[in-house]
Amino acid sequence: MTAPTWDPQQYLRHADHRTRPFLDLLARIPDLPAAPAPRIADLGCGAGNVTVLLADRWPEARITGYDNSPQMLERAHAHAAPHLDFAEADATTWTPAEPHDLIVSNALLQWVPGHAGRFPAWLDAITPGGTFAFQVPGNFDQPSHVLMRELAASPRWRDRLAGELRHADAVLAPTAYLDALTAPGITADVWETTYLHLLPGPDPVLDWVKGTGLRPVLTALADDPEAREAFLTEYRDLLRTAYPQGPHGTVFPFRRIFAVARKEKR
Ligand SMILES: C[S@@+](CC[C@H](N)C(=O)[O-])C[C@H]1O[C@@H](n2cnc3c(N)ncnc32)[C@H](O)[C@@H]1O
Repeated sequence: MTAPTWDPQQYLRHADHRTRPFLDLLARIPDLPAAPAPRIADLGCGAGNVTVLLADRWPEARITGYDNSPQMLERAHAHAAPHLDFAEADATTWTPAEPHDLIVSNALLQWVPGHAGRFPAWLDAITPGGTFAFQVPGNFDQPSHVLMRELAASPRWRDRLAGELRHADAVLAPTAYLDALTAPGITADVWETTYLHLLPGPDPVLDWVKGTGLRPVLTALADDPEAREAFLTEYRDLLRTAYPQGPHGTVFPFRRIFAVARKEKR
């Protein structure tokens, strides 16, 4: 899979709906050690708008948001403050250089193959009483993704798009996350929620995935605007049938998986 190019402006078009799971995750993160100035990392911080919510809750914390997209980081830098900075890092190899009271990651790990293999290194860096918490989408078997993959694999597109899209194994089952996180001295809380996002306007599901799940296709076809528009038209028509517009908007069911792993205090 080619590394997708991100478009913060497109991603932030649904920021209200996208932020809600982060707020739900944040609500389950207990108070941190090293109060009032804990050390916090936000992995895959994107445009930095959710990293700011960490600074709102822990105003004296030292917080760094990490991402590997120059476009996202450029946007995130606008949120930098005396205790809040942003840096380039690849989550496939990032290892904390110092102990952290909280490592948090919202909607990143589905982009990191084999991410559960990184958990031991991240948990090692968590201070006693500290937390590692993340949220990932659990919607790869939903029409938005199935139709995208089927279209990409169809005769017209398969030569250009083979291998570009992720499958259901991009994330683990909630029980597998519970197993991966639970260890002596670590208590894990894993749950899932399906949000029924009610989206306004025409073709809102297409507009949503253009900010995230469709990035690999948009990136692969970036040098051929005609092909890009042709793919978008075909996919849009499929989405219109799968997600019909109702009297109050378009219902977009979205399952998400959450995990909060806390290290025992000594
Ligand atoms: C769906 S966005 C989520 C952004 C932010 N956490 C939020 O909740 O708004 C996924 C982010 O993960 C970043 N990302 C993807 N793969 C990454 C990797 N291997 N290392 C670091 N960041 C990565 C992308 O650049 C993008 O900003």
